[in-house]
Amino acid sequence: QVARTHEPRYDVTALKEELKMHRIQVLSKQFNLDSEAGQQVGVTLFPTAGSQAYDRPPLIKDRSDYERLHKWSIDDPAGFWAEIAKDFFWSKKWDDNHHTYNFDMRKGRIECNWFKGGKTNITYNCLDRWVASGHGNQLCFIWEGNDLGHERVMTYQQVLNDVCRVANWLRAQGVKKGDCVTIYLPMICELPIAMLACARIGAVHSVVFAGFSADALAQRIQDCKSKLLFTSSAVNRGPKRVDLKHIVDDAISIAERNGYKGVKRVLVYEKSALPREQTPWVAGRDVWWRDEIPNRPEFCSPEWMDAEDPLFMLYTSGSTGQPKGVLHTTGGYMVQTGTANKYVFDLRPGDVYWCTADCGWITGHTFLTYGPLLNGASCVLFGSTPAYPDPGRCWNMIEKYKVRVFYTAPTLLRSLMQFGDKWVTAHDRSSLRILGTVGEPINPHAWNWFNEVVGEKRCPIVDTWWQTETGAAMITPLPYAWATKPGSATLPFFGVQPVILNDKGEELQGACEGILAIKKPWPSIMRTVYGDHERFEKTYFSAFKGYYFTGDGCRRDEDGYYWITGRVDDVINVSGHRVGTAEVESALTSHPQCAEAAVIGTPHNIKGEAVYAYVTMLSESDCTPAMKKELVEIVKRQIGSFAIPDCIHWAPGLPKTRSGKIMRRILRKIATGAYDELGDTSTLAEPGVVDTLISMKGK
Ligand code: WT7
Repeated sequence: QVARTHEPRYDVTALKEELKMHRIQVLSKQFNLDSEAGQQVGVTLFPTAGSQAYDRPPLIKDRSDYERLHKWSIDDPAGFWAEIAKDFFWSKKWDDNHHTYNFDMRKGRIECNWFKGGKTNITYNCLDRWVASGHGNQLCFIWEGNDLGHERVMTYQQVLNDVCRVANWLRAQGVKKGDCVTIYLPMICELPIAMLACARIGAVHSVVFAGFSADALAQRIQDCKSKLLFTSSAVNRGPKRVDLKHIVDDAISIAERNGYKGVKRVLVYEKSALPREQTPWVAGRDVWWRDEIPNRPEFCSPEWMDAEDPLFMLYTSGSTGQPKGVLHTTGGYMVQTGTANKYVFDLRPGDVYWCTADCGWITGHTFLTYGPLLNGASCVLFGSTPAYPDPGRCWNMIEKYKVRVFYTAPTLLRSLMQFGDKWVTAHDRSSLRILGTVGEPINPHAWNWFNEVVGEKRCPIVDTWWQTETGAAMITPLPYAWATKPGSATLPFFGVQPVILNDKGEELQGACEGILAIKKPWPSIMRTVYGDHERFEKTYFSAFKGYYFTGDGCRRDEDGYYWITGRVDDVINVSGHRVGTAEVESALTSHPQCAEAAVIGTPHNIKGEAVYAYVTMLSESDCTPAMKKELVEIVKRQIGSFAIPDCIHWAPGLPKTRSGKIMRRILRKIATGAYDELGDTSTLAEPGVVDTLISMKGK
């Protein structure tokens, strides 16, 4: 541990100069950083390099380059981020007497401010900036739909115009700064456009992944009191049609039954999957995109937002039944998101960039919408599933669009790996430079396949650890700057100071394993749980005083590299989707015949983790295969298909301590058949339940 001193141990002026060299010179029309392209640099640090040098000097050359900047960012966050923030357009600079940030984790009441008093609009930074500097014809979105041949491209100018049209429409509906708008759209260009349109006028968007059920959508509409909703008639996903408009109608009725009658308008985008005539309709409330949007004026002046004005909220699962509305604000999120996307993917304007996430998750906000647009990238948007119509789809797209950066989830890799290498090698992947993964720990087998087969051992893999709450990547390799190791997220990003704590909350030093926490404030941290600030403080800052608690376990090795070992709370990660075990339990126990349920995650070859449910029924005669189907249905209806249990294990009783706490450790062992590792069962109120549970396995 290095003690803080006020002695300058590095030359801040030189560091500032260094950052300036990374600056995107938009206004001087150096959009196409061609001059750099010819300069070959020898890359020696990436362990499997050697086959080919990177085609341009990476922004961060090596670990010492990084360490100097990282050290500055930790010793002097205000100075560091103030310098970085100069890369963005502010209509008014932040208030110096507010300092760059004001946030003390040690205080009882957690209040975070960054760049307070500063005014900006994130869409101006994402769109107008590029258009104003003569790059309106640059591709912004490259969209490919469910069926082969369904393709569309949009330039920065076109996206700006559409964003403005939708924003003007929103204003005409009476939507004002601070109002919440729910977006329930499939992966079409209109999804990020709708998000940006909200941000244009200062409305707070809440995107709900279009795989959530009507119940889940209703809950999310009600919680943030949306008056307006975006959706589409339906969408084809692989061979299946999903009737989104139908689900929206159901959700609105459910919300109404629960007492929320506020939805006044639904804007529906017509997809050929379900034509107009067949789409369910509520006259007076529902309107078609095609009738409402194209004739709106194509310019809409941006609402200049305070850095601390809300930008969006996104619901995520925690350890209780009710999902949390994670709220992010404008300035800090913009600055860190743009910066993370730039350095993690060594991204420059015009790069073809493909992040396979859906906009319904945080990755789709940070690394598919805001981050890449802040950097002027050309983003591939994909509206199908990776193995449809065949397992070569993704690699075909990489060849076709000459994708440079490919960022995906380990679960996608595992699902495609099983079809064999030939689907990959049939396509030219020479455009690829950087590969990335996110969402869950990556097993070395999948990492090696990604490296060897997909990347031909010449593309570094950035395994990025972060969370909905953190807003942007927190622990991640920077490509070409240091050696990676399969399964490690390596080192903290600028401004991030991770620590590993033991159960008592003491910081461990050197190589160690424990609980991952963050010690210093960073700009893109969530500001609150919407409508429940107390829950925010309790969940993240009360477990260990003075630290942000991540919920993840972590190991640090002798090289200082971090290895995420998975959640330590009651959250599981199914195919990179975050599922709260309490949410699944509450869905199961809402069945009138169900007495109790305990849900855990079990290892799964493709999904990473699968949902495994122990269920106690009121009567033994209810434990039938038909009942299992009903229980699956109920989870599907209340949450969505992705949360369905892979296994329902009838449990006449659950292993509980005398104080009534369910011992999930034992449930995990029984689920995986590790009966000789059950450990101490003497604290159980009724030790006999263990044998009964084992005997019920597979019934
Ligand atoms: C949880 C956050 C961050 C966007 C997608 C998920 C797990 C995330 C990694 C990684 C190991 C990871 C953690 C984290 N996670 N990235 N690279 N290695 N685990 O966001 O839904 O908020 O989930 O995902 O457990 O806490 P999220």
